[in-house]
Amino acid sequence: MKRIFSGAQPTGNVHLGNYLGALRNWVALQRDYESFFCIVNLHAITAPQDPKMVAAKTRELARIYLAVGIDPNVSTVFVQSDVPAHAELTWLLNCVARVSELERMTQYKDKVRKHEENVSVGVFDYPVLMAADILLYQTDLVPVGEDQKQHLELTRDIAIRFNRDYGQTFVVPDPFIPKVGARIMSLADPAKKMSKSDEESEAGCIMLLDNDEAVRRKFKRAVTDSGTEIKFDESRPAINNLLTIYHLLTNKTPAEIEEQFKGKGYAALKQELADVCIEFLKPIQERIRSIDDDKLSQILEQGAERAEAIAQLTLNHAKKGLGLIGARS
Ligand code: AMP
Ligand code: TRP
Repeated sequence: MKRIFSGAQPTGNVHLGNYLGALRNWVALQRDYESFFCIVNLHAITAPQDPKMVAAKTRELARIYLAVGIDPNVSTVFVQSDVPAHAELTWLLNCVARVSELERMTQYKDKVRKHEENVSVGVFDYPVLMAADILLYQTDLVPVGEDQKQHLELTRDIAIRFNRDYGQTFVVPDPFIPKVGARIMSLADPAKKMSKSDEESEAGCIMLLDNDEAVRRKFKRAVTDSGTEIKFDESRPAINNLLTIYHLLTNKTPAEIEEQFKGKGYAALKQELADVCIEFLKPIQERIRSIDDDKLSQILEQGAERAEAIAQLTLNHAKKGLGLIGARS
């Protein structure tokens, strides 16, 4: 069976973009692949976090994975820092990755532009840690949103270079980026992606934990384009984004949706979207609350054990390739 690996950071709040761009596909793919879903807390600390919150956020994200439909009996769910091989392989890959490659990463460049002097070395090295996550599991496919595409290309380059210089060690992974939903835009500013890190964009971001009133308010205030027709049209990004969300939440075809809203105004679309979204979130929020704390600990413990066993094999192989094993005898 081929493998998939993906992860999300336990920072901020999980939003509809994360779900539609990534988590939804993890759930859809988990039975066709041997699946690993990681809560990447080592990535989270590349930006300063309140230490009191890190563990709570990590567990909350694990609950969300399970509540949206990740089945711990089929998939391995684990916390990145519970498997030390991630940090160890990162060092080995640091010696293969090039500064010039990392300097080209757009997420890194954006952070430097915003925070200049205060960007940690961890932010710079973030893509190498991500490569280690993926390569440790001999991953075939990585389901992610569009914003991770460049990191995936770097992962492939690092794997190919390592294999060439130190012997066949890693499977070279392919990205899985959905055709629709890979880049859900902010409801407040359709030129920006929906994002949990951007404090100003809260109003444009539907959180999976939002209550009914917040969902209604955010859709009601959603920015729209000029014109009145409700049609899928990429040149009208605001309405296109709302329709894309509606399409993904209802599974109705674009033609059906256009027919449904023929002659209706934006207000009707927004109201219908809010209704559908509230219905969609309700069972997820109920499941989040109902997951037993001890059960969650057990799932994460078992997940870490399963992950560790596989990660260790790859790590040893990489160390042998580099000449790090065998020096004592
Ligand atoms: P993060 O929460 O940043 O760790 O992201 C988790 C996953 O959600 C990644 O696969 C991202 O590519 C995806 N993602 C984040 N924001 C969006 C968005 N606005 N639209 C679609 N996918 C997204
Ligand atoms: N960088 C990813 C994000 O912010 C999270 C991530 C870390 C990841 N390691 C990964 C995603 C490995 C896929 C595979 O969305």
